[in-house]
Amino acid sequence: MLAPFSLSSRLAGLALLISPLAWSADWQALPSRAPESADNPSTPAKIELGKMLFFDPRLSSTGTLSCFSCHNVMEGGDDHRPTSIGVHDQLGGRNSPTVWNSAFLSVQFWDGRAPTLEAQAKDPIVNPIEMGMSGIGLAVDRIKCLPGYPQLFEGAFGKKAGISDETIAMAIAVYERTLITPDSSYDLFVKGDKTALTEQQQQRGMQAFSDVGARLVIPARTSAAQRAQLAPASS
Ligand code: HEC
Repeated sequence: MLAPFSLSSRLAGLALLISPLAWSADWQALPSRAPESADNPSTPAKIELGKMLFFDPRLSSTGTLSCFSCHNVMEGGDDHRPTSIGVHDQLGGRNSPTVWNSAFLSVQFWDGRAPTLEAQAKDPIVNPIEMGMSGIGLAVDRIKCLPGYPQLFEGAFGKKAGISDETIAMAIAVYERTLITPDSSYDLFVKGDKTALTEQQQQRGMQAFSDVGARLVIPARTSAAQRAQLAPASS
């Protein structure tokens, strides 16, 4: 039988590295919905628009890179590279994290510099080594000229809001909140279905995860010293 996951006794020596909050919680299942922003509620029209924008390479200066290029949601939500390649084949300094379940993170980016998905979404568009637009206004102007988008923005945000950097980011964020993986074998196991993980392989993996303290990754986003270790700043 599986031993109980008594994290506190085995990891007492690491207590200084972690926030007490991380250890008060036991294993938890992912909720079936991502938390929403009160200022940006999800609607089917907004989700559909956000999905189009996420897949649209016309948001990049060369017309060749979309969010999907570095966050392949058909696979793991990343690009399978040590560090990402942006416009004009420029090699970036950081690894692309998955967008799957990013809606549950308290902050975005390896160094946590964006507080929300909405704040995060504008950054790659104007990052010179990612989508390379020389200004967010240029991306807005381009989207305004593309057939179909004005009607979709009106359907998602009403007549007044129009197409802006804010509404582009809001739509993308709402789409990203659909990229979640509830009810995986792990979730079902934690919710009480003891047959969801085989003891031989997965429960032992879960035990090993707990033993080495892999949950340190999440508190690391909140500590400046650990942030520096986790990913050196990109150029
Ligand atoms: C050229 C590759 C590339 C493109 C294009 C790109 N990203 Fe990223 N993305 C990255 C990298 C690299 C990071 C990590 C950068 C960092 O932490 O400084 C990242 C981080 C993120 C994160 C934070 C996830 C986390 O775990 O902290 C989200 C969300 C995200 N990107 C969404 C998007 C969206 C939305 C777009 C399109 C508007 C986009 N990305 C375009 C490479 C890319």
